[in-house]
Amino acid sequence: MTTIQSGKGFYDLFPPKSDQFTAIENTARDVFSRYGCRELRTPLVEYTELFVRGIGDETDVVQKEMYSFPDRKGRSLTLRPEATAGVLRACIEHKLLRKDEILKFFTLGPMFRYERPQMGRQRQFHQINVEILGSASHLVDVDMLFMLHRFLSEIGLTGLEYELNSLGCPQCRPAFRSALDNYLKDVQHDDLCADCQRRMHTNPLRVLDCKVPGCREIAKNAPVITQNNCEPCRVHFDAVVSLLDRSLLKVNLNPLLVRGLDYYQGTTFEVVSTNIGSQSSVAGGGRYDGLISQLGGPDMPGIGFACGLERLVMLAPAPSEPGIDVYITMHSDSFLEQALEIAQVLRAAHFSVEFPYVFRSLKSQMRSANKLNARYSIMLDEASSAQCELHVKDMSNGEQFTLSGSELPLQLRKRMGASLQN
Ligand code: HAM
Repeated sequence: MTTIQSGKGFYDLFPPKSDQFTAIENTARDVFSRYGCRELRTPLVEYTELFVRGIGDETDVVQKEMYSFPDRKGRSLTLRPEATAGVLRACIEHKLLRKDEILKFFTLGPMFRYERPQMGRQRQFHQINVEILGSASHLVDVDMLFMLHRFLSEIGLTGLEYELNSLGCPQCRPAFRSALDNYLKDVQHDDLCADCQRRMHTNPLRVLDCKVPGCREIAKNAPVITQNNCEPCRVHFDAVVSLLDRSLLKVNLNPLLVRGLDYYQGTTFEVVSTNIGSQSSVAGGGRYDGLISQLGGPDMPGIGFACGLERLVMLAPAPSEPGIDVYITMHSDSFLEQALEIAQVLRAAHFSVEFPYVFRSLKSQMRSANKLNARYSIMLDEASSAQCELHVKDMSNGEQFTLSGSELPLQLRKRMGASLQN
C-alpha cells in the first residue's frame, strides 16, 4: 500500500527539533513576562472578513495566501495567517480594552499562508507574537524593541540587523502616496516586476520594499517617506531614534521598509539575518494605531511584532542533548515491578527516570543508560533488596555508593546539589 505523506509546506516536528522549539517558547514566556506580557490564546480559525478588514484587501496575504473555505452554513472561514487581527478581535469582543489602561499580550502558535515553500518558508509555520495596546508613547516603541532584542539575545542569536522606519499616519500618508504615484507614473512599467505593476495602482508603498532587483533600482530614487511625514509623526519618530541612539541596540534607518500588512502606521521595524537564505526576515512589527477602531473597537493605539519560530530555530545554536537523572537497571526480571515502584517515587520527587519494561542483559541495560545520557544508574539485585539499600553509580565518573531505599529521593537530591556546586 502506498504511504501517505504530509502536505506540501506542512511538516512534522519531532525531537531533537521539537525540544528546540519548546526551549525557545519557554524563553519567550520568560522574557515577555518580565516585560509585563501575559499569554492570550485565540482560535486558529476566524471569519475571513476579519483578515480582509484587518490586514487589508490589497495585501499579498489576503489576495493570494489565505486558506479560506466555507463552513457548512456557507460562511467563509480562514486559517489565521497572522495573530494580530485575532488578538484585537478577542480584546474588542471581550471588552478588555479600557481608556488609559495598557494591555500587553503574547501569543504562540501556528499560522497558515499559502506561499511557495522554500528554506525558511512554510505553509504552516509558527509565530511568537507580542502586542501592546493602549499607549501612543514613543517609550513603548523603544521598550518593545528592547524586549525583542532581549528575547533574541537570550536564545543566543547574534549578528542580526534591526531595520527601522516610520510609515506616517492618515494625515501625512496621502500626500506621500500622491508623490509616490507621480514618481511611479514616470518610470518604465516594464522595469517593474508583474506584482509591482499591479501594486503601483493598488498599494504603491509595497513597490518600495519589493525584493526584485529591477524594482529595487526604481525604489532607490523614489520620494523618501520619512521626509514627507507630518510634524507629530516626525517628533514621535525622532524621539524613538534618539532614545535608541543612546542605547546599546544599534538600528539601521531604512526608509524603504514598508512591510506586507496594511495596518501599519508610524514606527515599523524588521529584524533580518543574512544567514537564512532569501527569507531573511526573522521578526517584524510596528504601530497600528488605527486598527482597533477599524475593527469596531475603541480608538486606541497599538504596536506589536511577530517572530517566525522556524527561522529562529535555524539561527539559534543547537542545544545539547537533554539527559535523564536516573536509569534503573536490574539483575533479573524479578525486579521489573520494583523498578516501576522506585521510578514512581523518584518521578514524584521531580527526577526524570527510565527503566527497561522488558528484562535484557546488563550490558544492554547500561547501553540504554548511556544512550539516554543518565546522570545516575541504580542497580537492583537480591542483596540490595534484602538490605533495603540501593546501589547507585554516578555515570559521569563511575563512583559507586549505597543509598537507603526510604531516603533515596532526599539523598540523591543532596548528591546532585553537591556535584552542581563542585
Ligand atoms: P510578518 O512580517 O508577516 O508580520 O511575519 C512575522 C514573521 O513571521 C516574519 O518575520 C517571519 O519570520 C515569519 N514568517 C512569515 N511568513 C512565514 C512563512 N511562510 N514561513 C515561515 N515563517 C514566516 C506579521 O505577521 C505581523 N502580524 C507582525 C505584527 C504583530 N505586527 C504587529 N503585531
